[in-house]
Amino acid sequence: MALDTAYHGDPRKYDRTRGLPPAVQEAIVAALAAAFPARARVLDLGAGSGRFALPLAAQGFRVVAADLAAEMLAHLRAKQPPGAASPASVQADACRLPFRRVAFPAAFSVHTLHLVADLNAAVAEIARVVQLGGVFALGYIDHDLDAPIGWTLHAWRAALARRGYDLSRPMWRDHPDIVAALTRRFGAPHTRVAARWQGQVAPAAALESVSERLFTPYWGLPDAEHAEIVAELRRAARRAFGGDLHTPRPDPRRFVWHFFRR
Ligand SMILES: C[S@@+](CC[C@H](N)C(=O)[O-])C[C@H]1O[C@@H](n2cnc3c(N)ncnc32)[C@H](O)[C@@H]1O
Repeated sequence: MALDTAYHGDPRKYDRTRGLPPAVQEAIVAALAAAFPARARVLDLGAGSGRFALPLAAQGFRVVAADLAAEMLAHLRAKQPPGAASPASVQADACRLPFRRVAFPAAFSVHTLHLVADLNAAVAEIARVVQLGGVFALGYIDHDLDAPIGWTLHAWRAALARRGYDLSRPMWRDHPDIVAALTRRFGAPHTRVAARWQGQVAPAAALESVSERLFTPYWGLPDAEHAEIVAELRRAARRAFGGDLHTPRPDPRRFVWHFFRR
């Protein structure tokens, strides 16, 4: 059976927990729009509930929102303002796209390529559907490693590595591996930090997001081993954050776009 990496959680909860400050959201979409030909047909690979597909469509781009999860696409459609330009939604696997060759002058993907079953197959599909001279943009949120969210993600990955797990497998694959695979295919990207902002996060809240597997890098382990690692991280967090896990701390982050030229 193919690996099921579709998001089957509640799309409303997804939106509540992935919200961006409005000015940050605007800056991210503006940087993306500036890299694409005006009103172009654009593929959003792993569009989810439309965090980027919807605002891009509102700017006149003809967006095709592709995602493995029917639930996420249904939520995306439900959020479309009446009468507004709407993305077309297509349930699809990034490793086997149902689009013809060179169908898009532009495509992008945010927080999705770490999930796909076969990264090289997904990269080959991107190369197939994007026109020569077109653009593929990879986007993600990058966290400071000594602030709660980045520290927690790093500690989780270190715990997996200590147990001998392969960190390049789906869900745990990290952005540098994805950038390297895309660079092998398309050459070095043009990189732009589209927004910087600062959240306030208590280490306990960051640990809670691991415990309840809120984010996809925390998927993939059997429950018992998952719980063991969470307990390990709690002990390490007490040492790292001086015992106080409940006071919110600054958590600086930035949104990075890598623009690859096909
Ligand atoms: C973390 S969400 C990101 C959604 C959206 N890009 C965003 O930034 O809000 C990852 C999305 O990738 C989708 N996904 C997972 N595996 C996929 C695959 N092989 N092909 C297409 N979409 C996939 C999931 O269903 C989910 O909606």
